[in-house]
Amino acid sequence: MVILGAGPAGLVLGNLLLASGVDCVILERATRTQVQARSRAGFLAANTVRILDRHGLAEGLHRRGREHTTCEFRTEDGRFRLDYGSLGRGERHTVYPQHELVTDLLTQYLNTGGRVRFGTEALTVRGADDARPSVTVREADGRTGSWQGRYVVGCDGRHGAARRSLPPGAVRRHRLDHGISWLGLLAEAPPSLDAVGYAVHHRGFAGHMARTPEVTRYYLQCERGTSPDAMSDGRIWDELALRMRAEDYGPLRRGRIVDRTVVDLESDVLEPLRHGALFLAGDAASLLSPSAAKGANLAVLEAEILARALIDDLCHGSPEGLAGYSQRCLAHIWRAQEFSQWMVRLLHGAPGPDGESVFHDSLRRSRLASLSTSRSCQDWFADHYVGV
Ligand code: APR
Repeated sequence: MVILGAGPAGLVLGNLLLASGVDCVILERATRTQVQARSRAGFLAANTVRILDRHGLAEGLHRRGREHTTCEFRTEDGRFRLDYGSLGRGERHTVYPQHELVTDLLTQYLNTGGRVRFGTEALTVRGADDARPSVTVREADGRTGSWQGRYVVGCDGRHGAARRSLPPGAVRRHRLDHGISWLGLLAEAPPSLDAVGYAVHHRGFAGHMARTPEVTRYYLQCERGTSPDAMSDGRIWDELALRMRAEDYGPLRRGRIVDRTVVDLESDVLEPLRHGALFLAGDAASLLSPSAAKGANLAVLEAEILARALIDDLCHGSPEGLAGYSQRCLAHIWRAQEFSQWMVRLLHGAPGPDGESVFHDSLRRSRLASLSTSRSCQDWFADHYVGV
């Protein structure tokens, strides 16, 4: 079995296959240090924790992760809080930085004899229609090589080799550009509030998400094409304070900004998630806008579904799980896409001509009003916000 990519999808899959005695290798373009240092998401859904628990992969997150149950909306009409941990099914998030989860998964995989080839870039997947597909690679020293397996699983993200290798027409790609961009920031500063903060402002969205007691993630909506370095740290903090209405609701705890990335909010879904002996999981299967922090959670869910199906096929001769993999995951993916899209519309005005903007702004405002006043709307929100 050849797995491309050592992110959450590839590493959960690798651990589960290894635990069932399925021989596999993970090919990873980056170095081990880079993989363990990459700062990404950090909100794990209750179901993700259950999956990791089931397979003995949750020790680190139970020790160092923190439960999270509240979000706060700040708008032109005031602010309101939702304690989603006591709404709907009452499920909670665990805040655990993704690079720590990746480090735990990698350590467990390597300690139980798993193989990872770091610094090995997959170039092309060949022969997915055959019984023995192969992956051509460029090794860290520049030499090219090839790996063969019964199956190849692309967990190598949206720009990986798995997507690139799909022959034209084999798989459809459904894509939505939300026309919105965020400047994602990582600040060496303690959280400024004990909740996820969503600020809706006429200058654009601003977001606050706790990571650790020392590090906080912020988002600022920006013009498409903005350079991450366009604003000084001081300007960024002033803009965050303005949009988060710090004057009314309390100051932000400022610190050095250690990471800046501009993200264009885009979503896509590949369909089906299989071409012959090549399977797709995680970001390689579907890209979610970061509005609802579902990406890593879906990646873990898909990896578990695929691992079970592969084990049934390879160890017990039952191919039904593999045949149904795509359909089963797509049902989860479209539900996550639907909620992420709903969040995008909740948090932003629509770009467009003035009349259209007023219309969309009014819809957004009334959606927020329903969320702040209707218990059934809040229960629905809570279930979708934490669920995958
Ligand atoms: N060859 C080998 N490895 C590759 C290649 C390639 N051609 N292209 C990408 N990779 C590696 C990347 O270096 C990365 O380590 O694949 C890995 C993909 O990991 P992630 O991007 O983390 O994707 P995934 O495991 O699907 O996790 C889902 O959800 O929170 C979101 O985007 C966030 O990473 C998260 C994702």
